[in-house]
Amino acid sequence: MKPIKINDGIYWVGAIDWDVRNFHGYITQRGATYNAYLIIDEKITLIDTVKPQFFDEMIKRISHIVDPAKIDYIISNHVEMDHSGSLPQLMEFASNATVIASPKGKEGLQSHYNGAWKFEVMKSGDILNLGKRSIEFLLTPMLHWPDNMIGYLKPEKILFSNDAFGQHLASSERFDHELPIAIVLEETKKYYGNIILPFGNQVTKAIEAAEALDIEVIAPSHGVIWKKHISDILSIYKKWCKNNTESKAVIVYDTMWNSTEKIAYAIQSAFEAKGISTKMRNLKTNHISDIMTDITDAKFICVGSPTLNNNMLPTVAGLLTYLKGLVPKNRIGMAFGSYGWSGQSIDQVEDALKSCRFDLMEKIKTQYIPDQASIEEIAANTVKTQMHK
Ligand code: FEO
Repeated sequence: MKPIKINDGIYWVGAIDWDVRNFHGYITQRGATYNAYLIIDEKITLIDTVKPQFFDEMIKRISHIVDPAKIDYIISNHVEMDHSGSLPQLMEFASNATVIASPKGKEGLQSHYNGAWKFEVMKSGDILNLGKRSIEFLLTPMLHWPDNMIGYLKPEKILFSNDAFGQHLASSERFDHELPIAIVLEETKKYYGNIILPFGNQVTKAIEAAEALDIEVIAPSHGVIWKKHISDILSIYKKWCKNNTESKAVIVYDTMWNSTEKIAYAIQSAFEAKGISTKMRNLKTNHISDIMTDITDAKFICVGSPTLNNNMLPTVAGLLTYLKGLVPKNRIGMAFGSYGWSGQSIDQVEDALKSCRFDLMEKIKTQYIPDQASIEEIAANTVKTQMHK
């Protein structure tokens, strides 16, 4: 439970959640961290807190450095409870502290906790002087709540980016160069696909602002701190925020008697024949939050369901609801499935893909079990004739 030094006088004092496996519906196989940062200057400053059940862990780390009663400022970059949840307990220790928040942040914190706390509200461009250091704030509304802001610390050139650039990844290592970068980037992508994806325009603005700064460290509120791979993470975010996709197909389906699955694999053959890489995602064995990782940069999204009781399967409906909410853009969709006598599911899937505003390839609708000729026809022609639509 010790703090981890980032620079002289600047420490990570957050919490490691080794056990969390479901973060409001997002499966976190590798756990999570809630990052809080302590700055020792003329004004002792804490940036963000942790989930309420991790308050003791945070306070122990802080207490290694300073008596928490001496904290002058608590910067709350984001109201969501994984970052503000320990604020009420902390304010009992640091009763003289001023809470620094955006205008919407102050509103949100008061609604959540109704604390009789001193607040100072920051707008974009406002600077908080800590002594030898200062933090300049930038409001980043809807990245990913209305209250979000980020802060740039000088002279150390650290960007405290809150949820942006984060990953759900529990580790005792705190820096990007201390873990295999492929794992860090995979979790960064999953985080982006499940949390940040709807807010590409806001990300674009934040990246433009970040690029105008000289950044030596990006300290997000989850996962590792970026030091070695700053230009990599900025360029990856730039690609994702513009919905720049790769020529990849994600084929997602559920199946009752394997007929829809047969169609799914015939579609895969069609993509493979065009040299387009594919991911097969059976909803019985893949969680929708993992499928979103694949979808983050995939051009083609094919979704299949058989018809059950005049409807698509509930697993497919769940995926499509989640997908629509995350608003991937510039995609090409395709509905497919087998049916016995009514066949509504395929039209329903297609309608859902339309409501995502995807361009559509022609749907594939097969009665009962697709025979060898249908499989060959799908494999030979589906993508070849339709991929440029
Ligand atoms: Fe990590 Fe939006 O909270």
